[in-house]
Amino acid sequence: MSTGGSRPVGVGLISVGWMGKLHTRAYQSLPAVYPELGVRPWLVHAADTAPDRAEYAREVLGYARSSADYRAVLADPEVDVVSICAPNMLHKEIGIAAATAGKPFWIEKPVGRDATDTAAVAEAAHTAGVVTSVGYNYRNAPAVERIRELVADGALGRITNIRSVFFNGYAAEPRGALSWRFNRELAGSGAMGDLLSHVADLVQYVVGPISQVTSLSSIVQAERPILPMGSGTHFAVIEGGEMGPVENEDYAGALVRFADDARGPGAVGTLEVSRTIVGPQCGLAIEVYGTEGSARWNFERMNELEVCTQRGGPHYGYTTVLGNPHLGDYRHFQPGPGNSMGYDDLKVVEAKKFLAAVLGREQVQCSIDDALSAARVVSAAVASAETGAWHAVTPVLGVRYGGNRPQAEAVGV
Ligand SMILES: NC(=O)c1ccc[n+]([C@@H]2O[C@H](COP(=O)([O-])OP(=O)(O)OC[C@H]3O[C@@H](n4cnc5c(N)ncnc54)[C@H](O)[C@@H]3O)[C@@H](O)[C@H]2O)c1
Repeated sequence: MSTGGSRPVGVGLISVGWMGKLHTRAYQSLPAVYPELGVRPWLVHAADTAPDRAEYAREVLGYARSSADYRAVLADPEVDVVSICAPNMLHKEIGIAAATAGKPFWIEKPVGRDATDTAAVAEAAHTAGVVTSVGYNYRNAPAVERIRELVADGALGRITNIRSVFFNGYAAEPRGALSWRFNRELAGSGAMGDLLSHVADLVQYVVGPISQVTSLSSIVQAERPILPMGSGTHFAVIEGGEMGPVENEDYAGALVRFADDARGPGAVGTLEVSRTIVGPQCGLAIEVYGTEGSARWNFERMNELEVCTQRGGPHYGYTTVLGNPHLGDYRHFQPGPGNSMGYDDLKVVEAKKFLAAVLGREQVQCSIDDALSAARVVSAAVASAETGAWHAVTPVLGVRYGGNRPQAEAVGV
């Protein structure tokens, strides 16, 4: 297929860690996966304060220029769009700077250390009128898109209860590295900002806005060996290093109430996250139960969707549906059913949604408003873990929450 008429889009990258590499690969995949999008991303300028990572961006990833200072990326006239993949404490400063520079940006979750940080970035983006996208990639899984449709179509009846967990054992090892994620000043909360934010985004995308939260949390490992910024990954295990304190929670559990919708009272549910759990590794799971059926999915079995839409009879139970061209964006990656997609592909879908919006097409991507909505749930959960009380959550104007609800209700008040 010819891509001769495709439009060049200059890419800037801020921070060349795990997510920086993944964003880069996602842009590079777009012409092959989505030729109809008509874009040809080219890698212009990357920045990282770690000199070897800036060099890696230039020499290996193929960026034309690299810098130590992110401001050089934002000032580069050949940069049309920016990926912000920095640690959480920099999201607010860099997000506001990108908006002020007039650059559309794709920023990693959770967008700052708390909802106040996220709101500041949202305000700057709205004031500047720039397109935004946020790295809540799990909503792009074809099985998740299908569960959202089943809920919206009423195939599961009235949704009564949900269960969602993110059991990610990246810190299951007691000698696991004390990365920036364990420091309040650098990350904000711990498993809540890192993992509960994904869960909050997912359940609100599928079921609807959460209206109330109560939670508890705990630290499982009090100290860990220190990992210097810009080296290794948060999966690293360090033998014999200097120890430092874990400042934020390893585990959190929450009860939630969803807002009432067109079908009646809102659902209730449980959300649970852990970064020290032994066994699950990237276990982001959602189970949605309604009066007429249920559906469940776990990222560790990303290509398997389980659905039950009948009651009684000899075949009563779950049907397992493998990834297939009817679900989400699957058909762009594989021509037939049963060929698996992977984690990286979710970022390619995200890049497509971002650049489609930048080109002026319909904004269906996860935007800074969705990030604010998830951040409000996380901040309410953090506050509740301290007070022990229920905390209200306000929906965010313009967010396309899941569920079967009139548009006026969907956008909140
Ligand atoms: N969407 C997802 O599933 C997902 C997964 C992992 C991480 N994330 C998010 O992505 C972000 C980055 O996480 P990561 O795992 O890639 O981190 P990382 O530790 O692998 O990389 C962070 C990079 O930022 C660089 N950096 C630090 N200070 C900087 C500065 N002032 N200017 C420029 N660069 C600077 C570091 O040198 C490092 O290379 C976080 O906000 C995290 O929550 C999202």
